[in-house]
Amino acid sequence: MSTTAHDRAREAADALRSRTGVDSYKVALVMGSGWAPAADQLGVEGEEFEVSELPGFLAPTVQGHSGKVRSIMDAQDGALLAFLGRTHLYEGHGTDAVVHGVRTAVAAGATTVILTNAAGSLNTDLGVGQPVLISDHLNLTTRSPIVGANFVDLTDTYAIQLRKLAHEAVPDLPEGVYAAMPGPHYETPAEIRMLRAMGADLVGMSTALEAIAARELGASVLGLSLVTNVAAGLTGQPLNHQEVLDTGRDAAADVGQLLAAIVERI
Ligand code: 6GU
Repeated sequence: MSTTAHDRAREAADALRSRTGVDSYKVALVMGSGWAPAADQLGVEGEEFEVSELPGFLAPTVQGHSGKVRSIMDAQDGALLAFLGRTHLYEGHGTDAVVHGVRTAVAAGATTVILTNAAGSLNTDLGVGQPVLISDHLNLTTRSPIVGANFVDLTDTYAIQLRKLAHEAVPDLPEGVYAAMPGPHYETPAEIRMLRAMGADLVGMSTALEAIAARELGASVLGLSLVTNVAAGLTGQPLNHQEVLDTGRDAAADVGQLLAAIVERI
């Protein structure tokens, strides 16, 4: 029998257990651009190391993206596993590399996966610096992490129960539909008009494939975007990666509190 991507995730989970001494995680978090410092507010830090030390993980290739993973002991009960950065489809290693963190976390016991990202806004109600709860996505990457005739239901991809809990934790948290694009370029103004017509409020280059991988494995998903910029053609200004990083840095304390308030209730 040849090994599958799922086997490799189980191997990574075993390596994670022996590295951290934690037998099972309750919640996994993937911290996107701007979200990594928020991990400091989630509980007592255990082991932190380069995720590329675990089998199947790649070192990060993007400036401003970390490649660390942190084991956290929650104040309540249960351990948290936070990936401080992720692998993107545009890095060219395929969908298995993109979802390896989520699969590893689920193999290490996580039944809830929190996916965070930096996103462009297509909705004038969602301004720069605004955290947004993802209500649903448009997977426009043309890819799926699932192989074979496994017709996973995505009706409740971003679990209604977790969204309810997030609203209880954070009053006035808006919701939006996230359009996942392959990147690495940002969209043209015409593409942004198309995405708006399709019902998207947010646009980014991550999250959807990880959410699908989590659903295939039966884990519940919560998605959070931080609006780091307004999408192309809506302001007359060009976009740049530095603006995305700067907004993330400025919002770190706020999104940390928000995340801690949500995790506390899970
Ligand atoms: Cl405007 N587009 C995409 N694809 N990703 C982004 C973004 C825009 N802003 C932050 N990330």
